[in-house]
Amino acid sequence: MQGRLEGKVVIVTGAGNGIGAETARRFAAEGAAVVAADLDESAARVVAGEIAAAGRRAVACHVDIREPRLIEAMLAFARETFGPLDVLINNAGLGAQKHFLETPPETLRTMLDVNLVGTFLCAQAGAREMAQRRRGRIVNFASHSGLLGSSGRAAYAAAKGGIIAMTRVMAVDLAEYGITVNAIAPGPIDVPRSRRQHNEERRTAWQRAVPLGRYGEPREVAAAALFLASDEASYVTGQTLAVDGGFTAAGLRVKQL
Ligand SMILES: NC(=O)c1ccc[n+]([C@@H]2O[C@H](COP(=O)([O-])OP(=O)(O)OC[C@H]3O[C@@H](n4cnc5c(N)ncnc54)[C@H](O)[C@@H]3O)[C@@H](O)[C@H]2O)c1
Repeated sequence: MQGRLEGKVVIVTGAGNGIGAETARRFAAEGAAVVAADLDESAARVVAGEIAAAGRRAVACHVDIREPRLIEAMLAFARETFGPLDVLINNAGLGAQKHFLETPPETLRTMLDVNLVGTFLCAQAGAREMAQRRRGRIVNFASHSGLLGSSGRAAYAAAKGGIIAMTRVMAVDLAEYGITVNAIAPGPIDVPRSRRQHNEERRTAWQRAVPLGRYGEPREVAAAALFLASDEASYVTGQTLAVDGGFTAAGLRVKQL
């Protein structure tokens, strides 16, 4: 059967772990040739190796999304290995959690530098290449934290909220080049990192706050990214799709009405 991304060249940043790794696997299973890029090159190698072992196409690539020179090298590597870029999944990111009163300005700068500026740099470099062929798809990774005020998220939320705003402008500016740009705002997703970092109180709070009553699976986020990257989403641009079990849709929730 034909995959939904047959023949497409895709870069997934942050593909060494969590959601990015699952997105790389799913996209490759749908026929894409995937460049799995990460700061942690050895983690990206493991993911690309698994995909290749399953008979699909993937290569690993080192990148630091804060570094324009490395981003250009990643794009050149993708082009030379597989051909011109069709889809950029701007997934790499970093979290931070501290009460606002205790958040050092350096934390804010780091969050903006990696999450917001890094996403900007990758999207701009990718879009310049896509614009030559007048087609392309960019999917940025925001967060529920960019939509609602969760405890301790001031620095991270500033960056993720910025990604949501920036996604709209990118969509408008890139429309004339046939490039669509959308964002995904995941809720709590069950990745190795959240398994390590979330304590009992946080887990219970999430299960209560999410109408579907559970963490999401990385494959559920990858499926949303697949839709936005596919031909089926050809008239969707500038949007942020929350993949959060209803968390950002919910108001007061009681059983006894
Ligand atoms: N997992 C969740 O619950 C959740 C919720 C909301 C939003 N998100 C967002 O989804 C995306 C993926 O999250 P995840 O949970 O899979 O994260 P993760 O920590 O499991 O993986 C992130 C990957 O990004 C890479 N990375 C970090 N900084 C980088 C840099 N400067 N250059 C290149 N790569 C870099 C890391 O090495 C890592 O492999 C992130 O943007 C995150 O903010 C995740």
